[in-house]
Amino acid sequence: MRIIRTIAEVREAVRDARRQDRRVGLVPTMGAFHEGHLALMRAARRDNGLVVVSLFVNPTQFGPNEDLSRYPRDEARDAVLAEREGVDILFAPEPSEMYPDGFATTIHVSGLTDVLDGAQRGARHFDGVATIVAKLFGIVAPDVAYFGQKDAQQVLVVRRLVRDLDLDVRIEAVPTVREADGLAMSSRNVYLDGAARQRATALNRALETAAARAAAGERDAVVIEAAAREVLAASGIRPEYLELRDAHDLQAMDRLDRDGLLAVAARVGDARLIDNRLLKANH
Ligand code: PAF
Repeated sequence: MRIIRTIAEVREAVRDARRQDRRVGLVPTMGAFHEGHLALMRAARRDNGLVVVSLFVNPTQFGPNEDLSRYPRDEARDAVLAEREGVDILFAPEPSEMYPDGFATTIHVSGLTDVLDGAQRGARHFDGVATIVAKLFGIVAPDVAYFGQKDAQQVLVVRRLVRDLDLDVRIEAVPTVREADGLAMSSRNVYLDGAARQRATALNRALETAAARAAAGERDAVVIEAAAREVLAASGIRPEYLELRDAHDLQAMDRLDRDGLLAVAARVGDARLIDNRLLKANH
């Protein structure tokens, strides 16, 4: 595996691979790898001749009061894990390589970003994500790019970006990987101390409980959401949001009469966690 820091060198490596007719897969990440990231890398390895993993803690997607400075960073460990998964290139640029002096462009995906994490964290978050993802697609020009379904809203934003800008890349959403007790894997789980770690399992249990109600025929969004809230409340968790929304456009939903996304965000101890469940209308 090569660790590459410059855009020019990644472009050259991708050009070489293309000359050999190798399909190119990209896994965009901010590092601090866990099994969720490794699942993305495995999917990319399975489908492609060249696998590029980007590792860049993107400053523009963090709000002023968010965790940019303490976001977990361990490139040496990440490199070992990526190499073990058969990754070909770890692209780990410095911020000045991605945002040189004079950088002045922001991509804003409207609509989808007004709700859930967009409403909670502010427009800046998804502007930062859309801009860096568009840059990575411009640099690597992948055939396929892999994203975790845990960030369901991010997946929808990226799909919209790809359609609207006619980018020639297929987006693969890979199912959320969970700890044995159901907690969705996240780089931010390292912020959870013992008690908070235990309480954090309530997010998945809340989603499971709501999903079970939906599977049993409940269609009223308020009732489905209330079932989840009750589980959170029992663990002393007040969500930032817990909402059932249309799984494709994130519009509000009164009834589960089409596929829905039940999405939750909550502060638990020192961590801000998100999770979600797709709820099918036709169970
Ligand atoms: O999901 C993430 O880790 C980031 O939002 C991404 C897609 C790598 C962009 O910085």
